[in-house]
Amino acid sequence: MIIYFSGTGNTRYAAQALGEMLDHEVKDIKELIHQHRRIKFYSQAPYIICAPIYAWRYPPLVESFLENSDFWGSNKMYFVATCASSTGNAAKYLKKICEKKGMVFMGFAGVPMPENYTVMFTPPNKEEQDGIFRLANTQLTHVANTVIRGEVLTNALENKLTKPLTAVINPWFYGAFVSSRKFRTTDKCVGCGACVDACPYESIKLFSGRPVWGTKCTHCMACLNGCPTGAIEFGRSTKGKERYYCRRRPKIVMK
Ligand SMILES: Cc1cc2nc3c(=O)[nH]c(=O)nc-3n(C[C@H](O)[C@H](O)[C@H](O)COP(=O)(O)O)c2cc1C
Repeated sequence: MIIYFSGTGNTRYAAQALGEMLDHEVKDIKELIHQHRRIKFYSQAPYIICAPIYAWRYPPLVESFLENSDFWGSNKMYFVATCASSTGNAAKYLKKICEKKGMVFMGFAGVPMPENYTVMFTPPNKEEQDGIFRLANTQLTHVANTVIRGEVLTNALENKLTKPLTAVINPWFYGAFVSSRKFRTTDKCVGCGACVDACPYESIKLFSGRPVWGTKCTHCMACLNGCPTGAIEFGRSTKGKERYYCRRRPKIVMK
């Protein structure tokens, strides 16, 4: 069973690609969180958890979802992270979750995908995106073949700098940087409510036809990058920047 979280579609693409190659059921964590109950999973096939990397770890929302869910059937858990370039020390924290839940950690793979953090960076252009997806498809095929063989994934994108710094940078990033305070809409907003549906925390509400952000936010960029009219800005840091949202459908032929 494949269980994924995605803010802007990259990880959804990865999860759907793996689902098709392995013929596994695919579940969306955002939809499950919106059910507001403890989830009990049952799968005879190993679990494959897919999520983006935020500040060199899985998003807190995904880590706590895993901690608060029950997994029956298979005791094996694989992890796939989409990222722009580095997965930091994410695997360490996922191993700990497996230990707590009595699951067997079957390894971790980082799959580079287009950068979506428009608040800090500019996303790659269309041509660069095509190249990134070609490489990602090869990586995802490797993940699927590893799962089929029952082997352990070993291709985390760790390096000597980001791995030890994760324990410092990740809490700093969430404490100092991740906040909904600077989100605002411009007069391009048509009050369609796409941002309301996109928020994994159900933190955005429409008042007089305009979105208002609550305090819960993980900076997944689903609201800002997914806005159909490009009406959402984050302070001045997103002004004039292209938005990135993956709407591709995977078509990978297994080798
Ligand atoms: C808040 C935030 C933090 C991020 N931090 C990292 C990071 O530490 N390392 C990295 O390689 N990519 C980082 N990224 C990029 C995303 O991991 C990457 O674009 C991912 O594929 C997005 O997946 P999604 O489209 O499924 O949401 C970050 C993105 C966001 C929104």
